[in-house]
Amino acid sequence: MPDAAPTPNPELFDKVVSLCKRRGFVFPSAEIYGGFRSTYDYGPVGVLLLRNVKEAWWRSMVQLRHDVVGLDAAILSPPAIWEASGHLASFTDPLVDCRNCRERFRLDKLDDPRVCPNCGAKDSFTEARQFNLMFKTHAGPVENEGAVAYLRPETAQGMFVNFKNVLETSRKKPPFGIAQIGKSFRNEITPGNFVFRTREFEQMEMEFFVPPDESQQWYEYWCQHRYDWYVDLGIPRELLRLRAHDEDELSHYSSGTSDVEYLFPWGWDELEGIANRGDYDLSAHAKHSGEKLEYFDQASGERYVPHVIEPAAGATRTAMAFLMAAYDEEEVAREGQGKGESRVVLRFHPRIAPYKVAVLPLSKNEKLVPVSREVLGQLQPHFMCDYDETQAIGRRYRRQDELGTPFCVTVDFDSLEDRAATVRDRDSMAQERVPIPELKDYLAGKLA
Ligand code: GAP
Repeated sequence: MPDAAPTPNPELFDKVVSLCKRRGFVFPSAEIYGGFRSTYDYGPVGVLLLRNVKEAWWRSMVQLRHDVVGLDAAILSPPAIWEASGHLASFTDPLVDCRNCRERFRLDKLDDPRVCPNCGAKDSFTEARQFNLMFKTHAGPVENEGAVAYLRPETAQGMFVNFKNVLETSRKKPPFGIAQIGKSFRNEITPGNFVFRTREFEQMEMEFFVPPDESQQWYEYWCQHRYDWYVDLGIPRELLRLRAHDEDELSHYSSGTSDVEYLFPWGWDELEGIANRGDYDLSAHAKHSGEKLEYFDQASGERYVPHVIEPAAGATRTAMAFLMAAYDEEEVAREGQGKGESRVVLRFHPRIAPYKVAVLPLSKNEKLVPVSREVLGQLQPHFMCDYDETQAIGRRYRRQDELGTPFCVTVDFDSLEDRAATVRDRDSMAQERVPIPELKDYLAGKLA
């Protein structure tokens, strides 16, 4: 019999959000002032998780390839860029106000476009008007029209406006890509679902410039490649799908888009879009700037405007999916006692796990602490380590399980005699004795 289709797990949402706060992954921003409009801060463990997500993306998209180079472009940008890209005219969402409770909503996200989800009033909405999502500000001390600047709503335009610079300096030729990770800002009408939709977020985008007649083949290549990236980093296939957009969903620039979707607690939703943007962007910037943004192939004597395939992912949204996918609860025998208890464990792929190793002296005993610090000093140059010397060892193991740390290294009284430590595996909870001088190689082998 085929497996039943997976169903969303609504309870998971609150469990993960509460764990994020409890263990220092994500805090509401400006919390001591009551929080600030769906913005979030990444705590000591969350910052590691987010860095690992970005590092895994960079490794796959830049480090392991010969045909992609990196970029870090400015966030503040002049209106000319957004005029050319089409964002000033079309980067809008339909906004409605409820005349009864005065709340605002995105019309296309309402379950029932006639009923206000806040106060329940029927037919109380105003006519929809288009609301531009870009944050507008002023560069410099004078707040006039000439000083208007925008916070970028996507990192992508940085790659298009630098196409010529990169082409001239990097010795790359189509097919080649420019990749960038960085913050983007959108004045979302209805942010929500924790860090899924926020006004300030991080993107991981790559623009792959190809000869026009190769665009379909590269589009298919990148759809598959990006889907595989999530699978390789431990997201179960049954919680992922690749969904091609219908004609009426396509963005103003796209001739074909597929989303990598994840089964979030509220249902399938987007992690990443892979779009075939044709020559829309380079042609638009060439027209508005007067610069020639094309490629001249000396071998064939051909001159053309490359087409663009764009895999565009959200780093913060992806970090949330990794958290949801890693979350597990199980009944286990209490370590060292044989009595049952339940444990929460984040089964992160080692590359994604915030800490790779936790070094734990069995107790805060004055003989154990120096050896533990020595072990820590040995491992720190190679792995991101946590160190924790207070509380009962069982509770410290549970804490590391909730952080998703793949291995704990415990220094006990035998270590003083045999110069070995106990390595505990997060998933199986199996323990193995390993000589201290061999710990680094042992762990490197397991974490590879
Ligand atoms: N350059 C194309 C582009 O920006 P997009 O689908 O609007 O495409 C790409 O954004 C990815 O950025 C999304 O799939 C999502 O992961 C992330 N993203 C977009 N808006 C977001 C928001 N408000 N909060 C968090 N992540 C967001």
